[in-house]
Amino acid sequence: MELDNITISTLWPTAVLQSRFAENLDAMKSEVYRLNALPGGSITKSNYGGWQSDVRLHENPVFAPLCGHISAVCAKVFKVKGAALHQMWACINKRNDQNLIHSHTNNFNLSGVHYLNVPRDSGEIVFRDPRPGANQAPYRLFKDDGDSEYFMPADGLVILFPSWLEHFVLPNRSDSDRISVSFDLTLER
Ligand SMILES: [Fe+2]
Repeated sequence: MELDNITISTLWPTAVLQSRFAENLDAMKSEVYRLNALPGGSITKSNYGGWQSDVRLHENPVFAPLCGHISAVCAKVFKVKGAALHQMWACINKRNDQNLIHSHTNNFNLSGVHYLNVPRDSGEIVFRDPRPGANQAPYRLFKDDGDSEYFMPADGLVILFPSWLEHFVLPNRSDSDRISVSFDLTLER
């Protein structure tokens, strides 16, 4: 029996990028709480509980340094001029608030999240491959751990991922606020 010539091609890898942007966290947190206190209520997107701002934070000067960082990461990794931010919004998850599984629309190249305040046990972000069968046996043998990948947020962490990639956020099991900023972008060539 000839078994020496087996090859495996791992096709179409899903790139999830992580970087760190720890400048300006306090100013952004203050601005999120200022917006949170304004009348007008919360936008409902994936949040199950929790508060979400409107989607125009990328036009707010307090978030300009974060937008610059995101653009610079995209320029470096994808060898493009930078990134155009189209939507950016803040989320405050209090105890038991969570975000249900969803993906972002095909209008964008990448989506992402930046963490401003992550108390202990306030909810990991979990990614899941949306392709039917991608998580079935025997293919899951090539993955580390079941059908989902858990990422532990931290203050200042930025995660960028393809907009079609499904994700959700586990419930906040702490008594402190979990504050994050989500965004959608296209690459500028
Ligand atoms: Fe999302």
